Amino acid sequence: MVSNKVELALNKQIEFEAASSQYYLAMASWAETQGLTGVAEFLYAQSNEERMHMLKLIKYVNERGGKALIPALKEQPQKFKSVHFVFEEVLKHEVFVSNEINGLVEICLKEKDYTTHNFLQWYVAEQIEEEAMARKVLDKLKLIGDDKGGMYLFDRDLPSIAGPAAGRGGK
Ligand code: FEO
Repeated sequence: MVSNKVELALNKQIEFEAASSQYYLAMASWAETQGLTGVAEFLYAQSNEERMHMLKLIKYVNERGGKALIPALKEQPQKFKSVHFVFEEVLKHEVFVSNEINGLVEICLKEKDYTTHNFLQWYVAEQIEEEAMARKVLDKLKLIGDDKGGMYLFDRDLPSIAGPAAGRGGK
């Protein structure tokens, strides 16, 4: 059974994962309209991953005798300044989520909820991967700068750059 505090914190996390999924979906849709097929594919996959993170939490809360709250959807931006900006936002967002997960881990320790603490270790590891991936993509974008040919290749290769390290290994 989860305590009220842990339940509240897990429900907050469900909201963050849902928000991440929607944000990345908006980015993916924008990239698709810009002809950036590879970037769109990467971000659609990222959005699916976040939805899966949310689902995993929903099921956990319900299994542990709590009640998962399904958050409302907020309208997302339709336009983004650039691909560079998109991935800076992804990194910023992932750092934020990592901090929230760390906060959640701390609450579990304070509440002596070792089961949830154990459950959250998967998220801790996932965040390390996701931050590393966002940094890797940003590094590539910095190399490309304003080079259009570079952007063409980046877009073509992004889905394979991401590969299993992006958490697409069937998790
Ligand atoms: Fe599920 Fe990338 O946070």
